[in-house]
Amino acid sequence: METVIYRPSEVHKAAQKIQQGELISFPTETVYGLGGDATNEVAVKKVYLVKGRPSDNPLIVHVSAIEEVGQYVQEVPEVASKLMQTFWPGPLTLIFKVKDHVFAPTVTAGLASVAIRMPDNELTLQLIRESGKPLVGPSANTSGKPSPTNADHVYHDMKGKIAGVLDDGDTGVGLESTVLDITDPMLPIILRPGATTKEELEKVIGTVFVDRHLVSNEEAPKAPGMKYKHYSPDEPVIIVVGESEIWQKAIKMYQKQGEKIGLLANQNILNQFQDSVTAVYSLGENKNIYDASKRLYSGLRYFETTDATLILAEAHDQEGLGEAYMNRLQKAAGNHFFD
Ligand code: TXA
Ligand code: MG
Repeated sequence: METVIYRPSEVHKAAQKIQQGELISFPTETVYGLGGDATNEVAVKKVYLVKGRPSDNPLIVHVSAIEEVGQYVQEVPEVASKLMQTFWPGPLTLIFKVKDHVFAPTVTAGLASVAIRMPDNELTLQLIRESGKPLVGPSANTSGKPSPTNADHVYHDMKGKIAGVLDDGDTGVGLESTVLDITDPMLPIILRPGATTKEELEKVIGTVFVDRHLVSNEEAPKAPGMKYKHYSPDEPVIIVVGESEIWQKAIKMYQKQGEKIGLLANQNILNQFQDSVTAVYSLGENKNIYDASKRLYSGLRYFETTDATLILAEAHDQEGLGEAYMNRLQKAAGNHFFD
């Protein structure tokens, strides 16, 4: 199959493909999604197939308006209305009790709930409206790889497997949406941290809980996707916590072991060490969590094109967006730290 890159002016062509049951990758403010008609079982099965995604890991449904949600879920609790009014369109996915028979059966992977979000990208909202369908949209990477933050990443993973990519340049946030379970409105639980932070949510609905399996590894987490190895480039990743001296120690130690080092760090660190390592990728300004989040996945992908055999990646404080950044980096690194 030829995979077409659609320009912003060609949304209607991409929408036709969706109506025909084909898959189109769409841009969002977080990462690129792998879009298909959520009411078409053949299209949804194709999504699992081309991603190589385990069938027990349900998909997010993308809508173009808050008002649509009522058609798909058993009830829209008060907390949901408040959250949607405040954060949509934006990087917040909400888990509702699903109505029977509105989506293709495999969308929810057999669960009684469904994940819904309204992405903050005008082209994609147009795609949803023009196709007249809610769209499933897992991240458009091969399962286990870092999520795509531009059309080239998608093309690399999905070339020949999907009908097209709607190209809108680089995504903004760079990390997937916050997933919040509100199936019990009295007990809202973050299943996956993202750019809509716990603090921001609590300002609107009061106390929000965090799935403790995100923090410990004792049991399977509630968002089925969080249990899989994820976001991993071909090379092992080690998280470096600390300033210049620590970086210097880490570089020396792993080079002694014969590793060729790739540095994924802020520009200050790169300026100091770029001449003594094999490859570097900048996470932007020192201590800037927005730069780092936006560039993390493209950085992890970059080293696959270099001779580096080991990636040393920079830690950030686990607060605000740093929660999401560290959650993804810890998965990519299989929790390996140097500190
Ligand atoms: O930012 C995003 O959310 C991106 C863009 C494309 O919208 N999408 C995305 O989708 O990250 P995906 O499929 O890669 O991740 C969806 C996550 C998975 O961890 C999945 O297990 C969880 O949401 N999930 C989906 N439905 C669920 C449900 N009913 N209950 C609990 N978790 C659910
Ligand atoms: Mg994903």
